[in-house]
Amino acid sequence: MKTAGTAYRCGDCGYVSLQWLGRCPECGEWNSFIAEAATPVKSGKSKAKAARSGISSGLPQPLNVVSAAETPRFTSGYEELDRVLGGGIVPGSLVLLGGEPGIGKSTLLLQLALRVADAGETVLIASGEESEKQVRMRADRLGQAADGLYVAAETNIERIIQSAETLTPSVLVVDSIQTMSDPETSGGAGSLNQVKECTHRLLTAAKSGGTAVFIVGHVTKEGAIAGPRVLEHMVDTVLYFEGERHQSHRIVRAVKNRFGSTDEIGVFDMGDSGLREVANPSEIFIADRRRGTPGSVVVASIEGTRSFLVELQALAAPTSLAYPRRVAAGLDYQRLALLTAVLERRAGLKLGTQDVYVSAAGGLKIVEPAADLGIALAIASAFKGKPLTAETVVFGEIGLSGEVRFVSHAERRIKEAARLGFKTAIVPPGAAKTGIKGIDIIEVTNVRDALNRLSAN
Ligand code: TYD
Ligand code: MG
Repeated sequence: MKTAGTAYRCGDCGYVSLQWLGRCPECGEWNSFIAEAATPVKSGKSKAKAARSGISSGLPQPLNVVSAAETPRFTSGYEELDRVLGGGIVPGSLVLLGGEPGIGKSTLLLQLALRVADAGETVLIASGEESEKQVRMRADRLGQAADGLYVAAETNIERIIQSAETLTPSVLVVDSIQTMSDPETSGGAGSLNQVKECTHRLLTAAKSGGTAVFIVGHVTKEGAIAGPRVLEHMVDTVLYFEGERHQSHRIVRAVKNRFGSTDEIGVFDMGDSGLREVANPSEIFIADRRRGTPGSVVVASIEGTRSFLVELQALAAPTSLAYPRRVAAGLDYQRLALLTAVLERRAGLKLGTQDVYVSAAGGLKIVEPAADLGIALAIASAFKGKPLTAETVVFGEIGLSGEVRFVSHAERRIKEAARLGFKTAIVPPGAAKTGIKGIDIIEVTNVRDALNRLSAN
């Protein structure tokens, strides 16, 4: 064992240094180092924990006798959430649900709890933020609480775990990790030490009791789970709950998942009686568009197994700055800068004196290159003041020489557009052979070709 001394730990990411540092070399945070005594391992306690955890019994097993059978899962009661989890809730898994305060994390998990309990399972909600009464009042607005749903207004992790050991629930909701503390651990609730220890205790409880544990974690404005990023490494699945405060729809996205892919998203709509599933996301992402407005383009996007349409909006305005602005909302900034340069060099658009703003409707984040052609057309349309023909959908990647490239799932994208009554699709070469009825498919080989479609009306 190393000699005890003082170590310094970054309160943000958990990076440990033997010297105090002004700036964390790992996460770049300033003044985030706090002194902590380099505590020797308390062997008794950790052995007991390891025994309870069931993760490391310590005994090696031949790999070919280890069961690889699919873990049986159970439904959260919401298809949108099940899909993001990789096909339902895995017993014994630890899931972190991150999101800004007020976005709807407690609501989502309460609705999940109501449905799971309704299916005959036992569920325990441990709330460090709301009283039992508050949870009950909210539950009354959201549905009917079945017998198996328990609530405890509690911040002591020890007592929560004891309750879970007694009730052996299928699901334990801990809302939020920043309010929880372990009396034996130093530091106040929300400190790195506490958050780590509490998460560790929950991990142990989840694995040994087979309980699926959902932890709520508040996220800072910068988008990191408040305080410790170490949390993300400790859990099986990290979900983010996103959305614009002033808009009603919400998106659940997996950023890490040991039990499924991270491509899927789940879409919900927040209303008076809580969150409603949106099985048909195109509905909301193109709902408010003004047909025939310059700068507005609908793109066909793919997230995981689903295809849906999203409206992009662009604005170009003469700049008063030496370096014109390029502002992207819901899109990749680098991509926007690159596409603006391509439009300038390959299609002769004089954007050097223009501020360019592009945003995706509904607070959605579109990262796939298939949105390139849509972004370029939206900018050009805004700049020239010429709209695209109404009911036109666009997709395709753009290369540096202005060529339009094939993208995956062309057929699914066109089908979704046809299903929603779109009449024209502007697509990369090779995508037309899909032969879907009711929609004109126009292949364009480069940006210039595509821009000609703007003059069509
Ligand atoms: P909440 O789940 O408390 O957010 P979080 O736990 O992420 O902090 O959600 C709070 C917001 O949701 C609040 O602004 C009110 C709104 N809301 C509704 O619009 N309808 C509802 O039925 C409920 C329960 C909440
Ligand atoms: Mg809450």
